[in-house]
Amino acid sequence: METNIIKGKECAEKVLQNLSDKISALPTEETPILAVIMVGDNEASQIYVRNKQKAAAKIGMGCEVMEFSSSIGENALLEVIDELNSNHHINGIIVQLPLPSHIDTLKVLSRIRSSKDVDGFGPYNSGLLSYNSEQAVISATPKGIMHLLLSTGIELKGKNAVVIGRSNIVGKPIAMLLTNHNCTVTLAHSKTTNLPDIIKTSDIVVAACGRAKMIKGDWLKEGAVVIDVGINRIDGKLCGDVDYDSAIGKASYITPVPGGVGPMTIAMLLSNTFEAFIRQQSEPECSCGKSGCHCHH
Ligand code: GUN
Repeated sequence: METNIIKGKECAEKVLQNLSDKISALPTEETPILAVIMVGDNEASQIYVRNKQKAAAKIGMGCEVMEFSSSIGENALLEVIDELNSNHHINGIIVQLPLPSHIDTLKVLSRIRSSKDVDGFGPYNSGLLSYNSEQAVISATPKGIMHLLLSTGIELKGKNAVVIGRSNIVGKPIAMLLTNHNCTVTLAHSKTTNLPDIIKTSDIVVAACGRAKMIKGDWLKEGAVVIDVGINRIDGKLCGDVDYDSAIGKASYITPVPGGVGPMTIAMLLSNTFEAFIRQQSEPECSCGKSGCHCHH
């Protein structure tokens, strides 16, 4: 069968161009600004953050990166978030993950004011997602994946989907989104015993397990749509969680690595930041005075 390559890079460029046009049309004194908190010197995080910064600059969005040593205390980090929460110039706040192990990630993410939580990782927005609420801020990678799936024009209703990987960043939210789109979803993970059997009956495969080329082409159902979220390196060369070469000819659609899900993630983060900016323009400032407020006027 002919396999169509889903062009994530092109799709992301269209989203970014559209955002750029909208930002240029704003009155000159208004620029959406994203604050990025980075703790420690994780090499992958540094690359992701640099890419976010570059993309923001290209579309005329502000991006303030705040870097802290891995020895920063939890309370000091919470104070930084409190300041950003009450800074009217800041529209979106993200904390690059992973955080060092002495910091409670949930506590930190919960502190971000929900209207500025443009990664959608806080309990308020992830709770709204589970309610299938339109108010939910959907985290960037799952939102990008849905965009790519819908761009193929395939009907999602009633399809069997398997998500491999149960992370809070990708696996769990994409499983929820696919459920909300009427797929029958299996959320597989490292303790799943019969993964090839599950994949064999799946029309949609989302690979987000972080293991290079783990999913083989001969595990796939003929005509499956394959979304590869993995970013791994073998001998310096980037590859996904799917064994791409063996999936060609078996899948009906597949995302490449690089140039698939990755660029969409950045475009969706900036899109979430722009939407937060627009909402904040029309919503009154919260009067409760609490940092990390979830009153959600
Ligand atoms: N670490 C890996 N991916 C992401 C992401 O999309 N957002 C944040 N904040 N951290 C990450």
